[in-house]
Amino acid sequence: MIDTREPEKLAVVGASPAGASDREAAARAVREMFTSIAPRYDLLNHVLSCNIDRLWWRRTARKFAHILQRPDARVLDLCCGTGDMTFALLREAGKTPARILGADFSHAMLQRASIKSRGTSLRWTEADALNLPFGGAQFDLLTSAFGFRNLADYDAGLREIARVLRPGGECGILDFGEPDGIIGRLYRVYFKRVLPAIGTMISGVKGPYAYLPASVERFPAPAEMLDRMRHAGFREVSWTPYSFGIAGLYRGKK
Ligand SMILES: C[S@@+](CC[C@H](N)C(=O)[O-])C[C@H]1O[C@@H](n2cnc3c(N)ncnc32)[C@H](O)[C@@H]1O
Repeated sequence: MIDTREPEKLAVVGASPAGASDREAAARAVREMFTSIAPRYDLLNHVLSCNIDRLWWRRTARKFAHILQRPDARVLDLCCGTGDMTFALLREAGKTPARILGADFSHAMLQRASIKSRGTSLRWTEADALNLPFGGAQFDLLTSAFGFRNLADYDAGLREIARVLRPGGECGILDFGEPDGIIGRLYRVYFKRVLPAIGTMISGVKGPYAYLPASVERFPAPAEMLDRMRHAGFREVSWTPYSFGIAGLYRGKK
């Protein structure tokens, strides 16, 4: 029998910083926020994560070694910020001249990435993840570390990722999660109280480090995120928790 039911509709969900009333306002607030913390972003990242972020980037890059070590591979690191995920991809590529490009919509973040990457083959471009300046089917791999959660429309973001990937291309979205149990309870105290206090002190800016736990709470749980990925056209989707689920990697194939 043919199933004539409509596929279940997923309500529009995306980042919603305080005071943002629509998709454009949310994107603008996110860009201004990252621009305001760009000068201290790397320091804050390493202090607040006790350097575990380096492990997460490296682990993510390793999962895609089979693509990165292909000489013809074209790779896009979306929401690349100051480029640490992008550098991990470059290291995993080793001597292979994979073409790796980082994209972000904050000029200030990209400026720092560009300074850090002098003498490497990495390239950077200013672009909005919801409206990428690339034709369809351009990339073999697309990664995004701790950036996807900030998009004003997750489904539109996934559709844009699927559009720019070649058939058989892969995506890896690394982002925060909410661990369960006692670790989860301890972590929530750190994430909601300690982290915003230290973040605000070091960056000198109040909003962003209160937004961070709120954005993680708002982000879909793994099962829902995997549904959204399937809906956007990805197959073989999976989620691998890192560090008890504090972070995790979503993978999918086009
Ligand atoms: C938390 S930082 C992550 C940076 C880097 N990937 C890392 O792992 O450190 C999030 C980045 O996503 C970027 N971003 C958020 N929304 C974006 C969008 N719609 N288009 C492009 N970049 C975006 C921000 O400007 C910021 O640099």
